[in-house]
Amino acid sequence: MRIDTVTLFPEFFASPLQSGLLGKALAKEIAQVNFVNPRDFTEDKHRRVDDEPYGGGAGMVLKAEPIFKAVESLPRLDPRQVILLTPQGEPLRQSILRELTEFSQLVLICGHYEGVDERVCHLADREISLGDFVLTCGEIPALALINGVVRLLPGTVGKEESLTQESFEDGLLDYPHYTRPPRFRDWEAPPVLLSGNHQAIAAWRRQQQEERTRRRRPDLWERRQDAP
Ligand SMILES: C[S@@+](CC[C@H](N)C(=O)[O-])C[C@H]1O[C@@H](n2cnc3c(N)ncnc32)[C@H](O)[C@@H]1O
Repeated sequence: MRIDTVTLFPEFFASPLQSGLLGKALAKEIAQVNFVNPRDFTEDKHRRVDDEPYGGGAGMVLKAEPIFKAVESLPRLDPRQVILLTPQGEPLRQSILRELTEFSQLVLICGHYEGVDERVCHLADREISLGDFVLTCGEIPALALINGVVRLLPGTVGKEESLTQESFEDGLLDYPHYTRPPRFRDWEAPPVLLSGNHQAIAAWRRQQQEERTRRRRPDLWERRQDAP
């Protein structure tokens, strides 16, 4: 998969893309992450990418033209999805990350300041939000999306089971995990996990998943009950 990131701050991505499983996956070329800077597509001597909002108001708006030119400069692979990161988009969830793994190319547009000129939405196939809060920039949501998508590509995570036995995959939260020692300070690991009884362990984990989801995320639980 090729991921092109339209950003004024390519340096923002350096360390996260080199670290941990994501860094290893990119070193193995499971995905390729490229950057294109709208500033390189400006024509004035100050290389301005932003301007004051029409109608007045606080903050600066990213101009449409440098962003259009940046996206239009990219080679095109099919199928491709152009995504605008915006708090007004569809909230990101695991099922969207799975859908995105089907594309050969993702183009991620990161906004800044007050956001992008509204006409940039004509470039985008989809608008995605990281959640109901406002960050200063689209680079953090883009990074979250890159991490979540690359994690699902074959070869990134050693055991396929780690991907399916995970929160949200079955409409449920994950079960609690424990490791050595059996007793840490005042807290025991649940004895069933040390019993060696695989059936009992599986039943306990399932019951924990259901109980946690019902208690912590009644919205997920209800959606699951309503599913056909
Ligand atoms: C300060 S925000 C602009 C917020 C915009 N004025 C609004 O209220 O909807 C600047 C940029 O950060 C990014 N951003 C901020 N919060 C985000 C979120 N929750 N999800 C996705 N992108 C976000 C977007 O790219 C946005 O253009």
